[in-house]
Amino acid sequence: MWEGAYRLTRGGLFRLDAEQAHHLTLAGLCWAERAGWLRSPAWSGGEVTVMGLRFPNRLGLAAGMDKTGEAVDGFGALGFGHIEVGTVTPRPQPGNPAPRLFRLIRREAIINRMGFNNPGLEAVVRNLQRRRSFRGILGVNLGKNFDTPNEVAVRDYLTGLRAVYSVADYVAINLSSPNTKGLRELQGVDAFVALFEPLLEERESLRREHGVYRPLAVKVAPDLTMEQTGALAEAVNRLQLDAVIATNTTIDRAAVAGEALAGEEGGLSGKPLAPRALECLRIWHGLLGRGIPLIGVGGIMSGAEARERLAAGAALVQIYTGLVYRGPGLVREILRATRDLSPERDGPSVEGPPLPGSSGRM
Ligand SMILES: Cc1cc2nc3c(=O)[nH]c(=O)nc-3n(C[C@H](O)[C@H](O)[C@H](O)COP(=O)(O)O)c2cc1C
Repeated sequence: MWEGAYRLTRGGLFRLDAEQAHHLTLAGLCWAERAGWLRSPAWSGGEVTVMGLRFPNRLGLAAGMDKTGEAVDGFGALGFGHIEVGTVTPRPQPGNPAPRLFRLIRREAIINRMGFNNPGLEAVVRNLQRRRSFRGILGVNLGKNFDTPNEVAVRDYLTGLRAVYSVADYVAINLSSPNTKGLRELQGVDAFVALFEPLLEERESLRREHGVYRPLAVKVAPDLTMEQTGALAEAVNRLQLDAVIATNTTIDRAAVAGEALAGEEGGLSGKPLAPRALECLRIWHGLLGRGIPLIGVGGIMSGAEARERLAAGAALVQIYTGLVYRGPGLVREILRATRDLSPERDGPSVEGPPLPGSSGRM
């Protein structure tokens, strides 16, 4: 039903300002879920253990779609097995001035320079505590406030980790948004290690305090050089992070050269990002092997592309822009395309050869 409704409303939504359309869609989704129009799915097949967590299927909602944690039940009812809420910063912040969200419709792409607009940790945690029906895996994606200097950025991430530890199943550390000045410099290997060492220490004391282990993932940019990626992968291996999410949006515009909006500052997502995101995933898989799982994201617009990412080494996939252009039908298509990948092929807890890149570490 939702596919049909989306086909009918997409034309109208695309005539609205992109940000208005986003808020309207989320409000509609929440309303429909609360009214009981959407039923939480009976997940059928496709379960997989990744990062020691049991995911009901391999598809997740990428960060940025639900920055406040208010729409988790609605998105869960569409069939997502995991939802990554955020990016959340310690203090609320308005983000960059509008306009800051642009559709390149012909190319099925988006350029955004939102700049981590979000209501802050306190409000997001409160929203997440109120969720009622979502039974999948909840990730929270953490960032730093725009006015926190990189030298003390670790404080923001530590504050975030402590605040969300009791509500999140896993925590993603976002160092790759192009819209917070200097953020991506934290992917430099020295800054990266200086950030993660205290975070891992803090996670250890939170694990003891709460009696539960929360996996820590890092979300990376598609614009790193081979050398930077190699150094980072070595650090990820050494620190034994729980997962790498590849990738965020790109600042490269080669794939949309000539488009009227190509000159807008920000991160490019959607179809034109797919070849680069896939290449990055392959590179990361080559560098990390099976030890550390990968979450593939960037330009996935079909079930076949989701399968391609899994074959290239991803244990899970996420979508954002595909959902905007294809609607909830894409969720169904990806679930159908990936559910026959049996759990027996994943994780050390079961026998049989694992899928490339999947690990299910505890
Ligand atoms: C409007 C918009 C806002 C986003 N906000 C965030 C964010 O807050 N944090 C984050 O880690 N990624 C954010 N992303 C990136 C997505 O999570 C994803 O990595 C990227 O868009 C590539 O996937 P896609 O091509 O399926 O959209 C955002 C993307 C878009 C289009």
